Amino acid sequence: MVLTGAGISAESGVPTFRDADGLWEGYHVEDVATPEAYDRDPATVLKFYDERRASLAGVVPNPAHEALARLEAAVGEELLVVTQNIDDLHERGGLQRVVHMHGELLKAWCTSCDQRHPWTGTLVDRPACPGCGSTALRPDVVWFGEIPYEMDRIIDALTDAEIFVSIGTSGAVYPAAGFVQHARRHGARATELNLEPSEGSFFFHDSRHGKAGELVPAWVDELLGS
Ligand code: OAD
Ligand code: ZN
Repeated sequence: MVLTGAGISAESGVPTFRDADGLWEGYHVEDVATPEAYDRDPATVLKFYDERRASLAGVVPNPAHEALARLEAAVGEELLVVTQNIDDLHERGGLQRVVHMHGELLKAWCTSCDQRHPWTGTLVDRPACPGCGSTALRPDVVWFGEIPYEMDRIIDALTDAEIFVSIGTSGAVYPAAGFVQHARRHGARATELNLEPSEGSFFFHDSRHGKAGELVPAWVDELLGS
């Protein structure tokens, strides 16, 4: 099982959250990524995610995304990639199966009829839901205080995993930050691939530091014995 975070998309030009030039610099998290913020000031929240959705058009996957697709092509369903990222770079890098535990920028969720729709446009102008016509579309992303998606499937995969690898995540946000401990309790060998030691670095058997675009292809080569 592979867990990815903002660091895997950094070399593609998507800003991370907690680095010096990180995205939260200009914004307080409680102003844009909580249900309370959305209730208080929906326009600011919708505009923030509209800008991030639009910026996806200007970025491309990097060798780290491509290496995970190569691993999947070799081992098939033995691999499960779970990402905290809301971008679509894993998919564009060729990965067939990915769990977006924090949701996806390219989907809108209608809180009136509860349907999800592929979305590339804006939401701040309150477009009508293609399903029910109401104007209750929000970004299909998980905010602080909400439960991440597909947790049952993720916990099962962690329990069964022989190898757990964490790529480009600071280990600051739960529940993802606790995955390494769960996987290890159930027998997995744990490796971290990150620019610097993460907050939970000491939980891993092996912690390698450097850029994902270099570390991930090398790790995949090593695993596949090439
Ligand atoms: P962070 O911004 O917290 O952490 C990114 C990590 O990637 C840091 O440890 C960096 O050192 C590392 N990094 C930066 N550039 C890298 C590179 N080129 N190669 C490898 N590593 C690199 O991002 P996340 O851990 O993903 O949640 O953040 C977790 C969650 O917090 C996000 O999903 C988001 C955020 O608030 C929600 O919005 C719910
Ligand atoms: Zn609807």
